[in-house]
Amino acid sequence: MKLAVLISGRGSNMATLIEACESPDYPAEIVLVLSDRAAAAGLAHATARGIATRVIDHEAFDERADFEADVSAAIEASGAELICLAGFMRLLTDGFVERWRDRLINIHPSLLPAFKGLNTHQRALDAGARFAGCTVHFVRVQMDEGPIVIQAAVPVRGDDTAESLAARVLAMEHRCYPLAVRWIAEGRVRVTGATVRIEGAENPAPALINPTGAGAR
Ligand code: GRF
Repeated sequence: MKLAVLISGRGSNMATLIEACESPDYPAEIVLVLSDRAAAAGLAHATARGIATRVIDHEAFDERADFEADVSAAIEASGAELICLAGFMRLLTDGFVERWRDRLINIHPSLLPAFKGLNTHQRALDAGARFAGCTVHFVRVQMDEGPIVIQAAVPVRGDDTAESLAARVLAMEHRCYPLAVRWIAEGRVRVTGATVRIEGAENPAPALINPTGAGAR
């Protein structure tokens, strides 16, 4: 399956997708990395790995729809069949989302539907959450909503800062995104209404409790 990866910055999730695609038994290849910012650090990494990159600067457009029309045209020209948002910081309009419906996925650094939007780690800490995590989901018109493909949960520790929690979650993002793309590329993922079924996916081991300690079982 041909992928377009959309980034705005660091591109560490993009890098894990590139690495996955370099493995011979991985059922996907990246045909385009597209950024809305020329300064996105991930662009250099993609170029170094021999992947076509394109910058479409959102600031060059007065209308969001015109920006998105150019983005869509570039993706279509690349032959991509699935768009992976990976730290792409532009909100997408209904027109774009509907055009790519069920061919557009995103990774978000929280256990959705909790903590949509930005600053998810600090907000999880402020809320006293005992678990944080990440979500890969199909994109719908409402921001950070859509059928969930995979989530990973990590414990929040008493001495966590937003940075330490972000690092723990990011390590899980790097596991989840290549897995989700693999399953989609293998044709094992069905979206039915708000939910996703994955052929052959296993249910996890028993629940986790955080904190553990006296009295916890
Ligand atoms: C990740 O935390 C991702 O979940 C969020 O934006 C961040 C992008 O990081 N959507 P990177 O550019 O992939 O390193």
